[in-house]
Amino acid sequence: MTGDEKKQLLQFLDLASDFLGTGYRGEREEYHIDDDRPRDVAGSDSLEAIAEEVRACQACKLCQGRHQAVPGEGVSQPLVMVIGEGPGADEDSTGRPFVGRAGQLLDKMLAAINLDRNTNCFIANVVKCRPPNNRDPEQDEIAACAPFLQRQLALLKPRAILTVGRVPTQALLGTAEGISRLRGRFFEYQGIHLLPTYHPSALLRDEGLKRPAWEDLKQLRAFLNSPDNNSPGNNSGNIGGVGSNRGALSAENTKPSEEQN
Ligand code: URA
Repeated sequence: MTGDEKKQLLQFLDLASDFLGTGYRGEREEYHIDDDRPRDVAGSDSLEAIAEEVRACQACKLCQGRHQAVPGEGVSQPLVMVIGEGPGADEDSTGRPFVGRAGQLLDKMLAAINLDRNTNCFIANVVKCRPPNNRDPEQDEIAACAPFLQRQLALLKPRAILTVGRVPTQALLGTAEGISRLRGRFFEYQGIHLLPTYHPSALLRDEGLKRPAWEDLKQLRAFLNSPDNNSPGNNSGNIGGVGSNRGALSAENTKPSEEQN
């Protein structure tokens, strides 16, 4: 309900109560009521404004150890937004996402299905500053950084999201299920198709994961090629779900013991 609608309803109720009570119209203060509806956050926002804020951010302890924050990079109207875990040493020293060994492999994986950060992708991470010694980002760090990712998504409106690895997948889907169970299945995140796959660094450690990762990438390409999915904002299609799948980058997740990346 909008603020105006709420105000009208309250004024009507006041009128009814005056009529049923004294029969006269009473004096009342002006109502000041907020909308329930979400504001159009993308309205006055920009990728550059977000990047500036990320670089100045001190919302969590990761800012203390960073050399450079890594806001993300790519085109402003991407087919796919790729979401990783967090910057490593190479990213921390350059301020750019996925530029180390894993990043070079990611670029090759994307190129194999005609995706590229310079033409049709945007690449970012759930946390924008490097966790010390490449440890997993903690839930409070993911939560502190979540508004940046949300604002990026609101602007980019990608046709699909590719999460690489356990950490971003669990964070977005609000689940503790392992990546080997989540990968290769489409989920819905805020009305956008989301496909999880393995992190490229997992593929560097375990060659055996390359085959399933390739299957996942082919699925993503098939989804992008499907005529049903060609109009912007049309995210219809086969979609799965996990648990409540609130996509809250929720802080409730617990880390499963089994999982790699
Ligand atoms: N791994 C990630 O998850 N993100 C990067 O930017 C680099 C490596």
